[in-house]
Amino acid sequence: MTEIAQTRSVPRVETTLVHAHGIAALVTLLISVTCGIIVALQLLYPDLGAGTPWLSWGRLRYAHTQGIMLGWLGNAFFAFLYHAVPILSGRPVTSTRLGRWLFALWNFAVMLPGWVLVLAGVSQPLEWAEFPLVVDAVVVVALVMAAVQFLPPFFARGLEYLYVSSWYIIGGLVFTLLSYPMGNIVPEYVPGAAGAAFSGLWIHDAVGLFVTPMALAIIYFVIPAATRRPIYSHLLSMLGFWLLFFLYPLNGTHHYVFSIIPMSAQLTAIAASALLGVDVIIVVANLLLSLRGAGIIPKDPGLRFVATGTWFYLIVSVQGSMQAQMSVNQAVHFTDWVVAHSHLAMLGFASFAAAGGLVHTWQRIPWARYNARAINHAYWLVVAGLLLMFVDLTLAGLVQGQLWADGAPWIESVQASRVYWVIRAHGSSWLIAGGFISLLVGLTTGPVGGGLKAVADSVGAEPIAQIAPKLVPLAGGAA
Ligand code: HEM
Ligand code: HEM
Repeated sequence: MTEIAQTRSVPRVETTLVHAHGIAALVTLLISVTCGIIVALQLLYPDLGAGTPWLSWGRLRYAHTQGIMLGWLGNAFFAFLYHAVPILSGRPVTSTRLGRWLFALWNFAVMLPGWVLVLAGVSQPLEWAEFPLVVDAVVVVALVMAAVQFLPPFFARGLEYLYVSSWYIIGGLVFTLLSYPMGNIVPEYVPGAAGAAFSGLWIHDAVGLFVTPMALAIIYFVIPAATRRPIYSHLLSMLGFWLLFFLYPLNGTHHYVFSIIPMSAQLTAIAASALLGVDVIIVVANLLLSLRGAGIIPKDPGLRFVATGTWFYLIVSVQGSMQAQMSVNQAVHFTDWVVAHSHLAMLGFASFAAAGGLVHTWQRIPWARYNARAINHAYWLVVAGLLLMFVDLTLAGLVQGQLWADGAPWIESVQASRVYWVIRAHGSSWLIAGGFISLLVGLTTGPVGGGLKAVADSVGAEPIAQIAPKLVPLAGGAA
């Protein structure tokens, strides 16, 4: 079903594709979280799944991380793009048919075979590139299709009308298309430290040039749309954007501090990491100033997820800048501190932005079901679970790092970790899983059009001119 938006300024929004990607996002999220829970349990009960190769720790961890990045975040970002691109560009996306193909390819030719193959033991031993080469080839095709689907509307509109979300969308789509083959295919053919350098580059490009720009595009979009006020400073938006795209690629080697990669590359990455922290402070200051008046925990659920994600972005990035420094990295590298950082980043920042984007778009689909109570529960459960997991794993990391520095036998650090792993596997896991089940319930039950009614009664459901202050004189002269 395709809805023709009622308002003067918005062309066709493919609500069926928003919906399909949204549901796929939540289903793949729940599958990925299940893999995460099993992996966490196996650290406590090593015999769990013993003798069943597809249940082995390594394979499930691959399924967990690739599922989170491509299945959950990938689908959630596509859902948002189908809503936002027509509003931002004033043009429909390229083709509904292409959209159906992209959906099918992403879910049935990337996620499904990717998972089946890694669980069957066919994988690529490269971080954040674990799906095998044959699946990588399909991802590249899908990324080309995504570029064809979402980029032309912006170019047709004219570049002078681009709003900050549009820059991030264009940057994210173009850079992911370029860096994905570099990180997933090149290291296969470049052995040794040089291959590792490419791999490190990709690790940070994956989070910095795919996940972060898309998450920021959502945040920059939802804040003005839900508060109905323009973003605080266009200048700060621009500064943040250019610094991010300039600095992120330089950060890659901070994953290999104290490695055999040339020290000049390591030092460049360490300096770039500190500067990236400054960039994030600029971006977040602009976003928080744009949120002024909405409260620390805004009432609107989409805005609330997005605002909380913004805070997590600040915390995780300041932490990241610190842990890239040699003295800190020496103490925490390889420990659960880094796993805490990853979850705060991918779950706290990116997933809160993605969930906020989903809720925001869902509210504006006239035929979608919407259960405000379940969405409210989802928010609190995930916040509680994430904070517990973050504190728990950070402490675990400090204990592990200290024991290693003291030269204690390895097994001692494993024994000391047990209490923290119990809290993760039997505490935070279930809060997070419960929260995401609640989000699925929130977006699949409740009255049809409930979200639209709630928004229309409060701030008004019309797409707003203010979303692109001064830059997008929308048709009808609403700006
Ligand atoms: C200023 C910003 C940031 C800096 C300087 C930074 C720095 C770092 C460093 C140094 C590591 C490696 C730690 C180690 O292994 O010893 C790391 C790991 C990681 N970071 Fe960040 N980080 C930042 C923000 C982010 C954001 C925004 C995300 C996600 C959206 C993210 C996701 C990750 C992930 C997933 C890992 C683990 C990678 C792996 O080893 O598989 N980081 N970060
Ligand atoms: C119930 C929830 C979850 C549990 C129990 C869980 C558990 C785990 C475990 C045990 C690992 C491997 C850590 C290691 O190598 O020692 C892991 C890795 C990871 N998980 Fe989760 N996870 C959960 C949910 C999530 C969610 C929702 C996300 C993101 C949206 C996520 C993102 C990641 C990332 C990025 C890594 C890689 C960490 C790294 O390489 O540093 N996880 N998770």
